[in-house]
Amino acid sequence: MRVAMIGAGYVGLVSGACFADFGHHVTCVDNNESKIELLNRGQMPIFEPGLAELVQSNLRGGRLSFSPDIGRAVRDADAVFIAVGTPSRRGDGHADLSYVFAAAREIAPELDGFTVIITKSTVPVGTGDEVERIIREVRPDADVSIVSNPEFLREGAAIRDFKHPDRIVVGTTDPRAKEVMAELYRPLYLNAAPILYTGRRTAELIKYAANAFLATKITFINEIADLCEKAGADVQEVARGIGLDNRIGAKFLHAGPGFGGSCFPKDAQALIKTAQDFAVPLRIVEAVVAVNDARKRAMARKVAAALDGNVRQKTVALLGLTFKPNTDDMRDAPSLALVAALRDMGATVRAYDPVGMEQAKSVLNGVVYCDGPYTCAEGADALVIVTEWEQFRALDFERLKEVMARPILIDLRNIYLPDEVARHDFLYDSVGRSPSVPQRRHDPRSGSKGGR
Ligand SMILES: NC(=O)c1ccc[n+]([C@@H]2O[C@H](COP(=O)([O-])OP(=O)(O)OC[C@H]3O[C@@H](n4cnc5c(N)ncnc54)[C@H](O)[C@@H]3O)[C@@H](O)[C@H]2O)c1
Repeated sequence: MRVAMIGAGYVGLVSGACFADFGHHVTCVDNNESKIELLNRGQMPIFEPGLAELVQSNLRGGRLSFSPDIGRAVRDADAVFIAVGTPSRRGDGHADLSYVFAAAREIAPELDGFTVIITKSTVPVGTGDEVERIIREVRPDADVSIVSNPEFLREGAAIRDFKHPDRIVVGTTDPRAKEVMAELYRPLYLNAAPILYTGRRTAELIKYAANAFLATKITFINEIADLCEKAGADVQEVARGIGLDNRIGAKFLHAGPGFGGSCFPKDAQALIKTAQDFAVPLRIVEAVVAVNDARKRAMARKVAAALDGNVRQKTVALLGLTFKPNTDDMRDAPSLALVAALRDMGATVRAYDPVGMEQAKSVLNGVVYCDGPYTCAEGADALVIVTEWEQFRALDFERLKEVMARPILIDLRNIYLPDEVARHDFLYDSVGRSPSVPQRRHDPRSGSKGGR
């Protein structure tokens, strides 16, 4: 099957490379020409584990190509995916659909023979109708079927997620389109991934409902974490205690600094706006967004609390800046609000991220960027784990103590055990658990170097 993938970002590039790996012939089109040049040299514009190898092997195999020319790719294609961005629209929080509609307008004149146009971008319910209207306006004669096929992959595990999805959602009632979609996903179907055929509007809504539900789960456990801190309970154990109930499930019950990333914040916001337009306000999702927004700055107050309530003229070192590990994506990362709040409070902020530094530099000013966790910790009054990269899971506490002004660790991802850290003479605070103080020495908040 011949595929055109419009948009070679996190979703388009991964999906295109995976479809090529299944044996289809895929052309990824992007209007960012420097991105296309990079990809044609086999270099990746984003960090995603395993992606470079997958792209390079399919380039060599002749099944994958990259082009800025939408015309040729669409004319040759049986299936044209739209995988362009749908960011929050400035000012009102609706999904900005201008990229999707622009892509539809560019696709329409090039259509040749029966073509299925598939929206993979996350789009509000009813967007497929508008894509169809645009296509028919530009090309009343075109033989097309417009399908919704939302994507559920997670950055950092995107290839695995694409190749082993929990389900594939296909929004169409057209038998010819179903046949094309079944053929595209046949290798996954053989692996028993369920394909759920629904109406187009239903498929569009499934994506938003899924993201809003997951965001709700995270926010729920974050609020329970706040209660645990006040009540002397342990949120990790609460999460395990409720997560073992199959009706609840253990995933997305990790308390932390609030959800961020390229999807949950904008999608929850867009769902709220869509629901308001239908006069069906979604109060729960509204509360989730408000609670989550407030939480990110609250994390800065948590850091301040560990430093006697004041970070002015103190140095705070942050480990991890991306919204989660194994990606370089900084979109809506909790670190953005945390850095802004710490700087507003008068702190000097140092930071290190294993792969997100370049992206971070373009969105975060006034930060001292460092080349490793220990250089980052140099002279710091507190070290804060913001993103749980693997390399932060086994820090050398003795070495940290040597370089830090004060041994204080604030772990916003709960990757350490409080007693274990306290044994190293650190004051340790995390999320939803009681802080622990050094077991052998005096309180490091006094200003001297504990453990020396
Ligand atoms: N990133 C994720 O984890 C993820 C997961 C599931 C769904 N989604 C959804 O998928 C969509 C794409 O997200 P992304 O993270 O890949 O975005 P992205 O910003 O990384 O990529 C979008 C790409 O589209 C290109 N583009 C825009 N207009 C174009 C046009 N007219 N012609 C050709 N190329 C064009 C841009 O240059 C960019 O490279 C969004 O709707 C998003 O919500 C994202």
